[in-house]
Amino acid sequence: MRTARAGAFRPPAQLQVLRTGASEAKRPAAILRAAGQDTVGKDSTAPRDAILIGDCVAEMMRLPEASVDLVFADPPYNLQLEGALSRPDQSLVDGVDDAWDKFADFAEYDAFTRQWLTAVRRLMKPSATIVVIGSYHNIFRVGAILQDLGFWILNDIVWRKANPMPNFRGRRFTNAHETMIWAARDPQAKAYTFNYETLKAGNEDVQVRSDWFLPICTGTERLKDETGRKTHPTQKPEALLMRVLLAASNPGDLVLDPFFGSGTTGVAARRLRRAFIGLERDRTYAAAARQRIDAVEPLPEEALAIAPTRRSEPRVAFSSVVEARLARPGERLVDARRRFSAVVRADGALAIGPAVGSIHKIGALAQGLPACNGWTFWHIERDGELTPIDELRAAMRAAMREAAESTADPL
Ligand SMILES: C[S@@+](CC[C@H](N)C(=O)[O-])C[C@H]1O[C@@H](n2cnc3c(N)ncnc32)[C@H](O)[C@@H]1O
Repeated sequence: MRTARAGAFRPPAQLQVLRTGASEAKRPAAILRAAGQDTVGKDSTAPRDAILIGDCVAEMMRLPEASVDLVFADPPYNLQLEGALSRPDQSLVDGVDDAWDKFADFAEYDAFTRQWLTAVRRLMKPSATIVVIGSYHNIFRVGAILQDLGFWILNDIVWRKANPMPNFRGRRFTNAHETMIWAARDPQAKAYTFNYETLKAGNEDVQVRSDWFLPICTGTERLKDETGRKTHPTQKPEALLMRVLLAASNPGDLVLDPFFGSGTTGVAARRLRRAFIGLERDRTYAAAARQRIDAVEPLPEEALAIAPTRRSEPRVAFSSVVEARLARPGERLVDARRRFSAVVRADGALAIGPAVGSIHKIGALAQGLPACNGWTFWHIERDGELTPIDELRAAMRAAMREAAESTADPL
């Protein structure tokens, strides 16, 4: 039976802003800002580390535009469950039959989706991205609406569940995954955050793929009340949110979650030293989220520092290394096993006999290969030891960074 409808929710007359504290390691206990003392939207800065109780669309309209760096949204799935579902042993499956997941029809669900996505887009900085998670019930509708509204889809990521719920009726395949659509605000967005290099480094130097294998949220991570009942029916695993935030945000960024539920996004944000705004209309969920987030200890800063990506590193040509006299014209470079040697020229090229070319071209030529990374192939002798010339480049980059920092305008 469909009773209440998520799209038809009326926000309470008096809105409360729950703050989970500042983003430092030791935050104060949550502050309950008195209803009516509503500063959100009146100044131009968005709140940080706040849970706002109310309808997400109404709340988002009161937040300043272009203020958030990343959005994670886990909206109602519109599961359309018909009646109770039981296991073969006749025990009841604890499915999602909450009022907030019920809509009269697809048209109503689409109208709601359009509304909240429009409100979200206004809050996104031009460089911001959004990740929306859903299942086959809703994700295709969400994807089409994202495109209609002008978002630009970057990936769809499949979260393959290590321990999915079986299909008890045996009438379909086990529904073992959910889909996350990752999209930029605009087709032209170029400067969005994607921590490609560090993700790859953490994945044994292999590009991270768009299928993620993770367990659903169980065990001690799952919030339960005194009677053992799940506090929230669709609590997402923290590992999933950690991956999303690590991939698409940096420490200090502001992450918005318009369907905060039990606050998993806030947990990942606090642990990873991002700030968050969580919107949730159910006070019980909001209170559980606040308590859960307040117990999280942020990770040490050095475990999270932004690593310079190859793209963000200044380009250093070998000629600059020669100009800086880190390698001198006339010196010889050799490979790690001293099988080949080449002369450094004054113009930054290398020579082997009459052949002259870049460090890469001469490295390839020496080995009879089509290509070679000259930075790692060629070595220079210093104090009787061979050092890859890549280390000279790294030293130059460090000097360039230092120079840039010392001349940076303090304002
Ligand atoms: C799928 S759950 C999110 C679960 C969350 N990701 C977690 O890990 O706990 C969706 C949540 O959105 C809330 N919700 C639904 N419609 C809403 C609306 N219009 N405004 C604010 N919250 C809403 C529901 O109360 C529910 O807690």
